[in-house]
Amino acid sequence: MSHRPRIILDCDPGHDDAFALIVASKYTELLGVTTVAGNAPLELTTRNARIILDLCGSHAPLHSGANRPLVQPPVFADYVHGKSGMDGAVLPEPSRPADSSAAIDFIIDTVRAADDVWLVPTGPLTNIALALTRAPDLASKVAGISLMGGGRLGNRTPTAEFNIWLDPEAAATVFSCGAPILMAGLHLTHEFQATPGRVSAIEASHATLGPLLGGLLRFFARSYVDRHVGFEGAAMHDVCAVLALTHPQLFTSAQRFVGIDVCGNFARGMTVIDERKLIHRPSVNTTVLETIDADAGFARICEAVASCP
Ligand code: BDR
Ligand code: CA
Repeated sequence: MSHRPRIILDCDPGHDDAFALIVASKYTELLGVTTVAGNAPLELTTRNARIILDLCGSHAPLHSGANRPLVQPPVFADYVHGKSGMDGAVLPEPSRPADSSAAIDFIIDTVRAADDVWLVPTGPLTNIALALTRAPDLASKVAGISLMGGGRLGNRTPTAEFNIWLDPEAAATVFSCGAPILMAGLHLTHEFQATPGRVSAIEASHATLGPLLGGLLRFFARSYVDRHVGFEGAAMHDVCAVLALTHPQLFTSAQRFVGIDVCGNFARGMTVIDERKLIHRPSVNTTVLETIDADAGFARICEAVASCP
């Protein structure tokens, strides 16, 4: 492990968010978890986060946040994650309620009170944008924002990735805020697939939790393997945003300006990456993650699962 960054994980579990939580519990100083509506309604993403924190043995504070995008109506990804947001296994009841429904206050207060906090959003960027709008000083106070979203291709539309597509206005606020941004986009995360062999390795990592996680991953794999050409398993998108901080040596990256299309007919929600070779071009605002050592990344997931109680 390279270092143990202090993070707030802002998520919408979500199968891959669940694994991001497990990896964050092992390898980061997890200051707190905030939830947002995205893959499923807010009550369900919050419930799922509570369950996963229990399974990791984590006592990190948990606060729920926005129950809908800033402008457009909520849309959920049950076609990927099922109605519960985490279909595929019988999950235990959570042991504790959320600490509050004031995620935005929690983000602001925590970033102001501590140095070098990374925000790690793995769902729509609604909570982060609301916090930055209410407290613009956060942009210069955070260590950075390591997010899963966008990329050089789309999934919800040909050009837009789900997290950015769902709340492009929030994404525009985040990408223009001035804080360092690490972007784990689809061109990267599609190379991080939970193949059958990797699912078996995760299952074998923990006697009780392993089979539960295997059930989740087999459900999650369906929407990839059945609906796409050339996928061997589900893309574990959200884990990349955590590993980029804890194990940066697994990645290659490029420095780019990235803008968000908020009004296109075909490209609303697209992360527009400036690839021009111009000498004078917009200033870099994003480290675009390009490649990942997938075998090494999955080994870190297995270690994190093995360390759960
Ligand atoms: C993103 O959308 C969600 O379905 C996943 O959890 C991930 O954050 C991938 O487009
Ligand atoms: Ca997610």
